[in-house]
Order: sequence, then structure tokens, then C-alpha cells
Amino acid sequence: MRAADQSAKRFVLSLSKDGREAPKTGREERGFDCGQTLKARAMQVFRAALFHLLDDPADAGADAYAYHDDGLLVVDDGLVVAAGPAADVQPTLPPDTPITAFPGGLIVPGFVDTHIHYPQVDVIAAHGTRLMDWLDRYTFPAEAAFADPAHAAETARFFLDELLRNGTTTALVFGTVHKGSVDALFKQALARNMRLIAGKVLMDRNAPADLLDTPDSGYADSRALIKAWHGRGRLGYAVTPRFAPTSSDRQLELAGHLLAEFDDVALHTHLSENTDEIAAVAELFPDARDYLDVYDRFGLLGGRSVFAHGIHLSDDAFARLAGAGAALAFCPTSNLFLGSGLFSLADARRHRVTVGLGTDVGGGTSFSLLQTMNEAYKVCQLRHSDLDPVTSFYLATLGGARALNLDRRIGNFLPGKEADFLVLDPAATPLLERRMAACTSLDERLFALSILGDDRVVRHTYLAGALAHSREQMI
Ligand code: GUN
Ligand code: ZN
Repeated sequence: MRAADQSAKRFVLSLSKDGREAPKTGREERGFDCGQTLKARAMQVFRAALFHLLDDPADAGADAYAYHDDGLLVVDDGLVVAAGPAADVQPTLPPDTPITAFPGGLIVPGFVDTHIHYPQVDVIAAHGTRLMDWLDRYTFPAEAAFADPAHAAETARFFLDELLRNGTTTALVFGTVHKGSVDALFKQALARNMRLIAGKVLMDRNAPADLLDTPDSGYADSRALIKAWHGRGRLGYAVTPRFAPTSSDRQLELAGHLLAEFDDVALHTHLSENTDEIAAVAELFPDARDYLDVYDRFGLLGGRSVFAHGIHLSDDAFARLAGAGAALAFCPTSNLFLGSGLFSLADARRHRVTVGLGTDVGGGTSFSLLQTMNEAYKVCQLRHSDLDPVTSFYLATLGGARALNLDRRIGNFLPGKEADFLVLDPAATPLLERRMAACTSLDERLFALSILGDDRVVRHTYLAGALAHSREQMI
């Protein structure tokens, strides 16, 4: 039997009655789980250097990753069948199997962006403000435009193109308060077969009137979106209160009801990003022990929760996040751009909080997870801690997948995972080519790539084995 057949069989056998994969591991056990509808395709084989993470380097050390100078990635029906050295994998394939080779290329899993706002593409790089003023001056007016479905559709198309151009194959995405903003995004993500989680913003106070919902309308719209989209294709829903200052007690309470009602939707919000924001939360919720406690009181702190930022957190709050199995999205380009502060990755990891990387566009300044790794390294430098390149790639792939409870589906090339992958060109620019030539180890090459790389490095982006973006030729 072909290797492909064996793996496909193993995968099929692991499906439960409703078509969902049965065994669960790690953070995903509490997690959100989308059904999948991958189209049947012939077996495909890709050849290049190949790198992927098998575990967190903090736990597995040198065993955390696999690297093959001459690797093969075998894909069948959009799922990974095998990934390994060509010398080992090729003999298991039928003799005439065609192979697509990328000389000089590096195949890695698609990047996972654990926090981004699609309606903010037009406010990226807006000058001169910190969080609360930036929201008032730039962000709220830009989001008001999403009352227009045509604007939402055009921006969603641009946004998804930009994700793929940067090698991001999965993202956790904020919409606006308008239900239609999320309909527009999901519609186009479904057509592209992207694995994407998104939600309508819940916001019923402390924002312009045309951006407010009510506790009841926010609940009803979120519920309708869950019913319409959650689990369709590779889509998932996240209940999305913007942040504590813009939701009433009743709205947060109803957000908790949604999480209780739908046991595999996610929770996505902001936490402890900016000192003025934290002071506002203390004033608005005088009975809460701290910012995190506001969410906890309403049932919003749990294993399905992803909190963006978490810059100004006590040891106690880190411990409560870890205890709940919640995840933090580390968004270095945004934290620097908005002057919010230096996230302590070392503290988060010491407390064993699950962490992913987020671009936080438009507070963040790049769609590129490579550029996000670059800034993450510098934030750690300023915090007097180290961020090694293998850990950076872990955070951008398997770590991000774990943060979103999607690691059973994506994040690396274990058999049965969805074949979302990138062909990177480590010598994409004259400077990269020169720097790569001077590197003497894999670590050095990965590090230079993470510091100097950006969208120019992403040669091809594949979604479930299908070419979704090609640098050479826009498709
Ligand atoms: N806090 C509340 N809303 C936002 C937002 O849109 N961006 C960022 N970075 N922080 C927020
Ligand atoms: Zn944000």
C-alpha cells in the first residue's frame, strides 16, 4: 500500500461519527474544533529543504524541531501524508510520482497570526498617538465605514490577499461591530478554503454612537454568525468583546452566555495593553481585583480565551492565565508603535502561559510574521531575555496553533495535518543572499531570516495543498 493510502486510512479511522477527528491532545482538548471539507485531489509531492516544529523548544530542546536539507512533503487530499528526508520518503512513493522541486527553497508550515484587525488596514502607520487617542482619532472612524457591505467586501479581499502574500495561512481576526463585516470576511475566507477564526466586535459604550450595539443586539448578531459560519469549511467563530472599557456588565455577561452555549467557539479580546486603559478599567469596574478579573467574573477566562497584549500583568495574573489554559497574543510591532510597553515573554513562558505571535494590524505595522519575530527579538533584548530563532518559528507556527486550539489541525507537518505551507526563498534579496552565504548553521540562517525577512521571502503559499499565492505571478 502507498504511504499516502496508509496515512489517509489512519486519518479516516480517527474520525468520529460527525466527521470530526476523535483523539485530542494538549490545549486543544478544551478547544474549538472546526469540521473540514477538503476537496479530493491527487497526491502531490514537494521537494526542498524542510523545517517544522514538533514541540515547544522549552520542553523538548533539540528534539523540538525537524530539519531536512533535502526534504519531501507528501500531501494527499489536502492533508500531510509524510514529511522527511527525501532519501527516506522517496522509496515509499509509487515509482512515477511527479515531484515539484523548489531548488534553494525552504518549506515551513504556514504562519499563524493570533491577533489582527481586518478593518484596520487603512489606519496602519497612522502618526502620533497612543492607544486611547489612536482609537478615537483613527480607528473608530475607519471602522464606521464598515456599515457599508461593499466596503467590507473590498477590504476583506485585500486583507486576505495580504495575509497570504505574507505567508499567514491562519489568523484570529477582529471584525467591526457590524455583523456584515464578519459575513464579508467569512464569505471570502470560505471561498479560499482558509482556516480562519473571526468575530463581530461587541461594544455598547464609550465609543461613537454609530459604532455601538446593545447587549441584546450584540448577543443576537454573534449567535446568528455562529449559526451561519462556525464549523463551515475551515472557519471558526470567536466571541469578540473589544475590551472591558467598551462593554457594559450586561454585555460581558451575555458574552459569557455565548461561550457557555457554544462549547467550541473561542473568546478574543484585549487585556492590559496600555496604562491609561488599565486605569479606565479600574474606574469602570471598581469591584474587580484587576483587569483580568473583569473577564473572569463574566466567564470569559478559560481554555478557549485569547487575550491580546498582556503587557502589564502581575505574577498572579500570569498564574491565573496559565491555570485557566488561556493564551496571550504577543504583538511586538503594535506594542512598540503605540508605545504600549515591553511584553515579558520570559515571564509568560516561566508561568507556562500559552503564547502566540500577533501582528495586531493596524496598531501593528506589518502583516509579516517574520517582521513580527524581528521586533519580538528586540523587545526581549530590551527585557534582557533571549529569544532564539527556533522558538520564534515555534511561536509563529505550532505555538500559534496551540494558542488557537488548532494544533490538531495545523502548525506542523505531522501526518493527518492540513497541508498549509510556505515555500520560502531565504535568498530573496541581495542582502539576504549575502548574509545566508555567511551563515554556518541552521540557527544562524533561521535567525537572519527572522530579522531580515518579510513578504519578499514568501515565494509560494499553499492552503490545504492548493497554491493560494505565488510571488512570481499573482494568482
Ligand atoms: N484595544 C481596544 N481596541 C483596540 C484596537 O483596536 N487595537 C489595539 N491595539 N488595542 C485595542
Ligand atoms: Zn488589537
